[in-house]
Amino acid sequence: MTGVNGEIRIAPLADTDIAAVIALASEIWNLHYPGIISVAQIDYMLGQRYSAEAIRRQLAGGRAWWDTLFVDGRLAGFASIEAGGRPQADKLDKIYLHPRFQGCGLGSRLLAHVAAGAGARGSRRLWLQVNKHNRRAIEAYLRNGYRIVESVTADIGQGFVMDDYIMERLIGQEASQNRREVRGSRPEGAMLRMAGSE
Ligand SMILES: CC(C)(COP(=O)(O)OP(=O)(O)OC[C@H]1O[C@@H](n2cnc3c(N)ncnc32)[C@H](O)[C@@H]1OP(=O)(O)O)[C@@H](O)C(=O)NCCC(=O)NCCS
Repeated sequence: MTGVNGEIRIAPLADTDIAAVIALASEIWNLHYPGIISVAQIDYMLGQRYSAEAIRRQLAGGRAWWDTLFVDGRLAGFASIEAGGRPQADKLDKIYLHPRFQGCGLGSRLLAHVAAGAGARGSRRLWLQVNKHNRRAIEAYLRNGYRIVESVTADIGQGFVMDDYIMERLIGQEASQNRREVRGSRPEGAMLRMAGSE
């Protein structure tokens, strides 16, 4: 169930929506990430990740899948998955909702949608990277069956560093058990517990 009034539609990214997705990404990043990373790093990472050419190249390669989420016909968010990156797992590379639509269940809905799509393509697991200080996103992932499996820092050039957790979830039958276990635990505790550290 969602707290958002309006018709919700999730659809594969259409070429005609690429420019709108890039504009939305810029808006969300500039509202969400100050305080987590510097404005200079936001600009650098947006430039690296969100160009129409790069997105079109990804889509044409057939190893990445983007979805868009609309509320009453208006673009409210998007997500993308890339094949591989870790053993037997595909990467949830992006999931972003405009702040107006955060915290009302749409993220969980989009996460379920992309996991179902990945499962239908034969994926057994999804993994992702999330900034260690992006607390609300971590909470949302924990609530949706992901668990923290690794802590990583990566130099991404020009003096910028990503300081992330890697999180992972199973897809399919095993995932429902995984989700029940996560829901039964306190998110704060789960966030601090690394796999294998108990
Ligand atoms: C991360 C994101 C996609 C989650 O989507 P969402 O719609 O906000 O999340 P949901 O409403 O489905 O909530 C899922 C869980 O997240 C947590 N959560 C969501 N909003 C929250 C808020 N305002 N305060 C605290 N916890 C919150 C809760 O644990 C919630 O579970 P519950 O509803 O069972 O209590 C969305 O918040 C977002 O786009 N954030 C900004 C961009 C970002 O950080 N993207 C991820 C990059 S790795």
